[in-house]
Amino acid sequence: MILRNKIKKWKISKFLINNNYYFDRSKVLKHLPGYMLKEAFNKISRWKGYAKTPLISLNKLSNELKLGEIFYKDESKRFHLKSFKALGGAYAVEVISKKRKNIVVSSATAGNHGRSVAWGAQKLGLNCKIFVSQHVSKERVKSIEQFGAEIIRVKGNYEKSLGECKRQSKKNGWEIVQDVSTDNYKFVPQLTMAGYSMMIKETSVQTKKYITHIFLQAGVGGMAAGVVAGVAKYFKRIPKIIIVEPKHADCVLRSIKSKKKVKIKIKKESIMGGMSCNEMSLLPWKILRNTSNFCLSIGDNFVPNTVAMLAKKAFSDKKIIGGECAAPGIISLISACNNKFVRNKFDLNENSNVLLIGCEGDVDKVLYKKLLIKGSKN
Ligand SMILES: Cc1ncc(COP(=O)(O)O)c(C=O)c1O
Repeated sequence: MILRNKIKKWKISKFLINNNYYFDRSKVLKHLPGYMLKEAFNKISRWKGYAKTPLISLNKLSNELKLGEIFYKDESKRFHLKSFKALGGAYAVEVISKKRKNIVVSSATAGNHGRSVAWGAQKLGLNCKIFVSQHVSKERVKSIEQFGAEIIRVKGNYEKSLGECKRQSKKNGWEIVQDVSTDNYKFVPQLTMAGYSMMIKETSVQTKKYITHIFLQAGVGGMAAGVVAGVAKYFKRIPKIIIVEPKHADCVLRSIKSKKKVKIKIKKESIMGGMSCNEMSLLPWKILRNTSNFCLSIGDNFVPNTVAMLAKKAFSDKKIIGGECAAPGIISLISACNNKFVRNKFDLNENSNVLLIGCEGDVDKVLYKKLLIKGSKN
């Protein structure tokens, strides 16, 4: 009853049905080949400290929403990085280094990808240069420096930092490790997405139940596309794929609506920082334009409540540390169930087994604390 009262007003901002939906496993695996997924799993599962992240049942929430099961993949337990991003950048560094010890790796980043690259470089004893824009917080810079990387601050926005990273890397012979793919930069982003697909490989052996729905947070779409490739390779049945974005950064939704990759203007940065992106990466676009059934967007307003409710066992028997980007899947599922039309379209019912990705833990400790305090008040 208390849970019902807390969540009954949660709402979707925008909702889109993808009229171009068709899920063709072989087409997905043409963009992200199965052997790359297999190799990522073989290599990463041998890293020191590797363990599958927990698949937690949100049993209190599934009772409340009258659904079969809700599984929460808890990426707060992913190595030291407390985020699925550990599977991407660090893995790409390992592959491109080809066991060389004298190379320097570089990347431009707003945070978590750079941390993963820095961690990967540190594990292998490589030098690492991370370019950040003037907007990246001191807290985030510290969390990258902690892995031994040199930070280079660039005046202007993310694009400026990427430009400077490319310029200096070319001049000095550094190896760039970006997670965004373009027409002529594909291999490294493929490696990062192959790393992310591990979440599905693990899930496939953590439950015998068929997953019917997956809610996938998106920034540039790399995580979502990596998971979709994992589904194409590892799942026997194809679940419904629902893409989730912040209200003011819905570049996937708008691209799917326009049937072409569009660049948007972000009017207001979201608190879900890693997802506040204005343009999709090219390969994820090629994968998601047909394989996502639905897109939706949500505002920031329910994020603090969700963070606090995860911590206070409102959804499950277990306490869960979930940061700002872990919340959107739960918010979207609840909001979809609150809307009869959407619930019917999604075909959410007592036979549904939903997978949510708990992308990160308290990566930004200062923000996490703030959200927890705010979300505990109301
Ligand atoms: C912490 C974090 N950063 C970034 C992203 C976005 O990933 P991508 O840009 O690959 O879509 C997510 C999830 O969507 C996230 O949880």
